[in-house]
Amino acid sequence: MIESLAGQVGSVVTLQGWLQQKRASKGLIFLVIRDGTGLVQCVVNQSSVDEHSWAGASTATQETSLTIKGEVCADERQIGGIEVQVSSLEVIHLVSDYPITPKAHGVEFLMDRRHLWLRSRRPWAVMRVRNCVIMSIHNFFQERGFVQMDAPILTKNAVEGTSTLFEIDYFGSPAYLTQSGQLHGEVMAMAFSKIYTFGPVFRAEKSKTRRHLTEFWMIEPEMAFYDLDMNMTLAEDFLVRVASDALRDCADELELLGRDLDALRRVQAPFPRISYSDAVDLLRSDKTKGLVEEKIDALHREKSDLEEERASNKSNYGQLKEWKKRRVDAREIEINARLAQVQEALRNLPKWWRSAAEFEWGGDFGGSDETLLTWHFDRPIIVHRYPEAVKAFYMKRDPEDDRLALGMDVLAPEGFGEIIGGGQRADDLAFLEAQVERHDLPRKAFEWYFDLRRYGSVPHSGFGLGLERTVSWICGVEHIRETIPFPRTLGRLTP
Ligand code: 4AD
Ligand code: MG
Repeated sequence: MIESLAGQVGSVVTLQGWLQQKRASKGLIFLVIRDGTGLVQCVVNQSSVDEHSWAGASTATQETSLTIKGEVCADERQIGGIEVQVSSLEVIHLVSDYPITPKAHGVEFLMDRRHLWLRSRRPWAVMRVRNCVIMSIHNFFQERGFVQMDAPILTKNAVEGTSTLFEIDYFGSPAYLTQSGQLHGEVMAMAFSKIYTFGPVFRAEKSKTRRHLTEFWMIEPEMAFYDLDMNMTLAEDFLVRVASDALRDCADELELLGRDLDALRRVQAPFPRISYSDAVDLLRSDKTKGLVEEKIDALHREKSDLEEERASNKSNYGQLKEWKKRRVDAREIEINARLAQVQEALRNLPKWWRSAAEFEWGGDFGGSDETLLTWHFDRPIIVHRYPEAVKAFYMKRDPEDDRLALGMDVLAPEGFGEIIGGGQRADDLAFLEAQVERHDLPRKAFEWYFDLRRYGSVPHSGFGLGLERTVSWICGVEHIRETIPFPRTLGRLTP
């Protein structure tokens, strides 16, 4: 495989893969080959291969599948510090008109062809980071004695409110796709002490934002005898571990994505812990106003720099060599994409500031409020003790202030916002029964859940981490749809 070639300098190897890029000059063809594990440049020299191999290399097009034999040579200037001097080449399947060309395409175009787009470099890097994050999560919990257990997907219970339930017909009676494994997680924690679930969950989110999917993966640890503080400390250790594993294991992928690695290096304990009430004050403060103004200035500067660069690239375009033109074209596409983002941010920021300044105690934070809050800090923050009215029915009340629930959210820095939601669970039967009624939930469907409070009830806590939001943050990828192989959103159910 390509990823292990660096250790095979001097030996002759056989590679099987696909052609990603090709360049030819007199008597030489340079093929960039992809095999899923990495990329390598293969050099075909007309004088050192037979006619059949030369013809194959000459006709091969983008995404043509190939078998290549050749010697691995060290070459610092090439990807991975090596290249392959080809001795023979066999075309397996010749492609005509691969729809995704090296020129840039819009995201919708690419998402419609997600089944092919996954072969490109950016999705490759994001999915490898996703894999690393998944391994890191399992290692973290396994090393601490948590038992991984699965919650059902088909359920009778609403966990996170009734407005985002996907209802299905279960042999003539209604059932739902689960919104969260938490309630079953609590059951399993009473049986196994510390457990975590790792599974798909579903939310009929009607919102079209960069943070919402209708199907996503959630990791939900649940611990007997944990209070809110212990829960926050666990969440903190957990995220420190995920970020540091990604830095260690995915350096190439993160670099390819242009991730600011220093931002990830700053993910160190302790994370600031601020109460909801303090967060509201901060949101409405002049400090937030100052940050917004600074950001607007910075965006204006970036905008004029980009426009200047674009104009100077265009000015001598006519005189450029073909390969240089292609590079300028690619850069222009990047510049335009970034300019669109900058302009959108410039339109949004005044609105964000206004809604932050007018934020009233008691409401839930919107995406923009979270973004503004994160700008005050250089690492993730934990916001705790929310008004009970904006949190789920199962949360324990703050014994110090009955208006508050012992919930917590972790907000990822750099504007990414909520990646974890959780808290301490109500452990009193009468309180929980009253909550189910108050929230208009069908009592019968919760009898088994009440049993936990009938038989050996203990203080317990847990949280849920959204995998895709976490991968977005780790990768520095703006939109969540790029962080799952096949995103499901309000407007997308294919491929
Ligand atoms: O905050 P949420 O709704 O919390 C729960 O579901 C709890 N029952 C978890 C628990 O305590 N065991 O969701 C948890 C996390 C969010 O912080 C976010 O990262 C992610 O799940 N999430 C979404 N990710 C993508 N698309 C959506 N529509 C999401 N909704 C929540
Ligand atoms: Mg939440």
